[in-house]
Amino acid sequence: MFSWFWYIFPCLGLLLLRILWHNNTGKTPAKKIPAGNRGIPVIGETIQFMAAINSNKGFYDFVKIRRLKYGNCFKTNIIGQTHVFISSTEAAKKILSNEGGNFTKRYIKSIAKLVGDQSLLCASHQQHKLIRSHLSSLFSTTSLSTMVRQFDELTVNNLSNWHKKSSIIILHEALKITLEAICKMLMSLEDKKELEMLHKDIGLIYEAMLSFPLRLPWTRFYKGLQARKRIMNLLDKILEARRKSKEKYDDFLDYLLIKDDQIIQLTNEQIKDNILTMIIAGQDTTASAITWMVKYLDDNPKALKNLRAEQQALQQKVSCKAYLTYEDLNCMPYASKVVKESLRMASIVPWFPRMALQDCEIEGFTIKKGWNINVDAKSVHFDPMIFHDPHKFIPSRFDDDSKPYSFLAFGMGGRTCLGLHLARAMMLVFVYRLTTSYRWKVLDSDESIEKWTLFSRLKSGCPIHVTSIEEERDSPNASKT
Ligand code: HEM
Repeated sequence: MFSWFWYIFPCLGLLLLRILWHNNTGKTPAKKIPAGNRGIPVIGETIQFMAAINSNKGFYDFVKIRRLKYGNCFKTNIIGQTHVFISSTEAAKKILSNEGGNFTKRYIKSIAKLVGDQSLLCASHQQHKLIRSHLSSLFSTTSLSTMVRQFDELTVNNLSNWHKKSSIIILHEALKITLEAICKMLMSLEDKKELEMLHKDIGLIYEAMLSFPLRLPWTRFYKGLQARKRIMNLLDKILEARRKSKEKYDDFLDYLLIKDDQIIQLTNEQIKDNILTMIIAGQDTTASAITWMVKYLDDNPKALKNLRAEQQALQQKVSCKAYLTYEDLNCMPYASKVVKESLRMASIVPWFPRMALQDCEIEGFTIKKGWNINVDAKSVHFDPMIFHDPHKFIPSRFDDDSKPYSFLAFGMGGRTCLGLHLARAMMLVFVYRLTTSYRWKVLDSDESIEKWTLFSRLKSGCPIHVTSIEEERDSPNASKT
């Protein structure tokens, strides 16, 4: 009995000393290397990643499968580079707020070549600061108010003849309206032919973004680069005309060209790369989000009923005005939650890529200098510990503030989406016009994801059939779906 006492007592003492020593030094006993399969030498798991891009489950499936197998943090190798994926609000905070300066933004090579090295997506830390400060001042409340009016006008025109058609593909219409709105806002581009050309070329760039960076004439990457060249030529033409013009335009380009000795001007290359970046960052994301929102509302009649009630009440108040104002959007509390819930469920940008600038540690995992570290936002959005019944569309879950770093649709920190208020405004305007003009039925409920797209897009594009609410009022016996 006594011999046991003399053996256990010093052991407990040593254990206590060890705990105290760790608490004082802040060191953890053993750092973990993220689990995962590095695949075959050099190629790694590139083939599996490409297969996911080329499947109807969408490229996030690559991450989902590994997350289920290895847990919250795993490692893989794509095109010869180590990629770590991590999904927790704590990791998101540490990486996206970048307090220790351990991380920088990093896109895969094909994306950087397509958007241009002066794009704020790829620019060095210093350059990013300069470009971002120029671009963020463009999204003032005054410009947002102009944009809301312009976007509403485009939406009203676009929706005006939907009831005469047997079906409407929401994604196609949303892509058209968002491109027109963004091009008008950026550089007053309204010429139908130029817009059509831009629409096709932006589409080719999207398709090239996830492709293997091989410059052979039949590859997606090559076609994307050719499309970029054509867009750069168009932007050169617009810039040249604008520099010669004495006319005043109320757009971003005019603002970027203002001569002011107090601020460092952007070069032509910086202006062109960043106009392309904003079109790429803003058009497809917003159009895809609108498409998912229409689908989710069709799947959830109760939410649609609540939304319609709110929007029709607002319609009574604003019907004297031809177009919505930015202030009107503040009178849409339920619609705002519908927008937020759609963005959570769709997780249009499923993860955010960064690169470790030095060896560091996240949640006990060792991250080596040079590794790519991706914040897996989609897993956070579907974490049942954060959002109850995460696969259900419940707008009222946003009645209360959500946990910090849990709603990541627009990212967080110094790289937060520059267009978030504009994107939110476009979604609200669209849903207001749709719910107050039409009832709709989705014609194809297939949830397959489009192949080769950077942002999560419904393959069907969400085809709908609409009936006019106004016509229904004139013939009250018509069915209400
Ligand atoms: C629903 C629509 C949109 C979604 C879901 C979205 C999402 C995002 C996300 C998640 C990021 C940050 C990525 C990261 O941290 O790695 C981002 C960045 C960005 N977004 Fe958006 N976005 C949308 C619309 C727009 C619009 C309309 C514009 C402008 C016209 C825009 C311009 C940008 C730009 C310029 C950046 C880069 C910011 C930087 O690196 O400093 N986005 N967006």
